[in-house]
Amino acid sequence: MIKNALITGATSGIGAAFARQLGEKGYNLYITGRRREIIEKLAQEIREKHNVAVEVIIADFTNESEIDCLLEKITSVDIEFLVNNVGFGHEKKFLDDSYENQRKMIEAHIESFCKITHLVAGKMKKTKKGQIINVSSLAAFTPAAFNHLYSSTKSFIITFSEALYIELYPLGINVQVLCPGFTKSDFHRSLKIQEKTFENRGLIRWMTSEEVVRLSLNSVDKRGGIFIPGWSNKILYTIIKALPRKLYYVMARYMKM
Ligand SMILES: NC(=O)c1ccc[n+]([C@@H]2O[C@H](COP(=O)([O-])OP(=O)(O)OC[C@H]3O[C@@H](n4cnc5c(N)ncnc54)[C@H](OP(=O)(O)O)[C@@H]3O)[C@@H](O)[C@H]2O)c1
Repeated sequence: MIKNALITGATSGIGAAFARQLGEKGYNLYITGRRREIIEKLAQEIREKHNVAVEVIIADFTNESEIDCLLEKITSVDIEFLVNNVGFGHEKKFLDDSYENQRKMIEAHIESFCKITHLVAGKMKKTKKGQIINVSSLAAFTPAAFNHLYSSTKSFIITFSEALYIELYPLGINVQVLCPGFTKSDFHRSLKIQEKTFENRGLIRWMTSEEVVRLSLNSVDKRGGIFIPGWSNKILYTIIKALPRKLYYVMARYMKM
């Protein structure tokens, strides 16, 4: 039986790796992005390589009417695999930027994310089948002065996904909330962060998007809830969770996080 997967933010990085690997598993794909030329090229590559149908949906997740158009396009489709992956960082700190600009992250990481999940997971609940991967970040556990809304919206994604997992697991639907650490993709390039930042230092070990996705997909059948890919990220997560909060605040200030 043909199965459908919806992957948001599949133009590059982690989303593109999900598209390639789910295409390889035989899923027909609905993939979203804004950079049309790049995502169309990816769609064609996957069609040719894996002989599956790939539909591209261009949508800006900070624009409510574009999200409504996306929902209209998928409303009659049975999606068996949902990957909520759209995400971006901010160049400016919360108080140094206009609220209008900062608000876009709430729109994309929370509003649009919830709207899509409500439609797709709602249908999965009725049919009692499906799998969901929501992409958060290790940054959800490390609030930082340059990153107010990024850490907090990613933290929302974790809490929301855990609640969804608790609800849907008894029906046979697994919900994983994927928390990658340092991952090579267009994410840092779009923030104009220099290539040399991508060097490994101590526990900072850069992973490829392909590695992150392979580990995530290997785990999603077995268990849901929080999933941290890679040994260095797992150690970092354990250290962060064990640190007394007051000590974390001092360290974050000292390290100018
Ligand atoms: N890279 C890391 O170190 C890292 C670490 C932890 C978590 N993450 C998370 O992983 C996810 C994927 O990021 P990535 O690292 O793969 O970065 P990426 O290569 O920049 O991919 C981001 C994807 O999201 C889409 N996107 C961004 N803003 C959008 C908007 N306003 N409307 C619609 N689509 C939008 C992009 O599409 P277009 O470019 O076509 O708009 C692209 O497909 C994100 O949620 C990110 O927060 C990344």
